[in-house]
Amino acid sequence: MIQVKQVVAGYTAEVDILKGITLHAARAEIVTLLGPNGCGKSTLLKSIAGFVPPRSGVVLLEGQDVSRMPAHDKIRRCGLGFVPQTENVFSALTVRENMLVGGHYLGNTQCEQRMRELCALYPMLGRKFGARAASLSGGERQILALARALMPRPHILLLDEPSAGLSPKMLQEVFEAIAEIRRKEAVTILMVEQNAMEALRISDRAYILSMGTVALSGAARSLMHDPQVQELYLGRPSP
Ligand SMILES: Nc1ncnc2c1ncn2[C@@H]1O[C@H](COP(=O)(O)OP(=O)(O)OP(=O)(O)O)[C@@H](O)[C@H]1O
Ligand SMILES: [Mg+2]
Repeated sequence: MIQVKQVVAGYTAEVDILKGITLHAARAEIVTLLGPNGCGKSTLLKSIAGFVPPRSGVVLLEGQDVSRMPAHDKIRRCGLGFVPQTENVFSALTVRENMLVGGHYLGNTQCEQRMRELCALYPMLGRKFGARAASLSGGERQILALARALMPRPHILLLDEPSAGLSPKMLQEVFEAIAEIRRKEAVTILMVEQNAMEALRISDRAYILSMGTVALSGAARSLMHDPQVQELYLGRPSP
């Protein structure tokens, strides 16, 4: 469970990027964050993860106030997984080595066991186990980034544009992989996306950000049919 209450945050003292954001994701929910470029979606994920600490407001994970907890502690102690928008795999390392990095808090046996589980869930990982991440396609890399974050069995997953740059087929595969992890492991997922309609299809609810505030929110299914959302994301004029 993620709760964000009135969070204000930014990179410099003068400018607030997040101007009082309130939202939540219940246990095992998939919640999508939409909004134009530069509106603060990645900043919000970084703020929840602890890389850009809130100036005011609070972030609670599983009911615990973690507003001031650094990212590495959240990952280790609160079961948080974070897949950033860019540089989310180590290109020079192999698939196996990337997964080992994700599982470095686990003991050897647990780590091997978890790698086997994830290779069964995402067979591509097993097929490319010894290959360098640099040699993977964009979609394969996204699945590896997801698997790396899943290694320590997180309860909460923050995903920043997991389908960026993917072909429609790969995009379906990555979204299916995300939906599958929620079904199998009841992970709470907050994900930023630009492929709005496809993301809404696997989501329960969504928030639309605009200039550092929540402009619109609701059930994914109703937002898919909202004329304002269709106008923003599909270029269809409002009736
Ligand atoms: N490391 C940084 N230092 C200073 N300003 C930053 C930094 N990262 C982002 N910003 C600024 O914060 C604002 C919000 O950026 P953010 O990355 O959160 O947007 P976004 O909604 O994720 O956009 P996109 O859809 O393009 O990924 C932008 O004006 C950006 O220039
Ligand atoms: Mg972003």
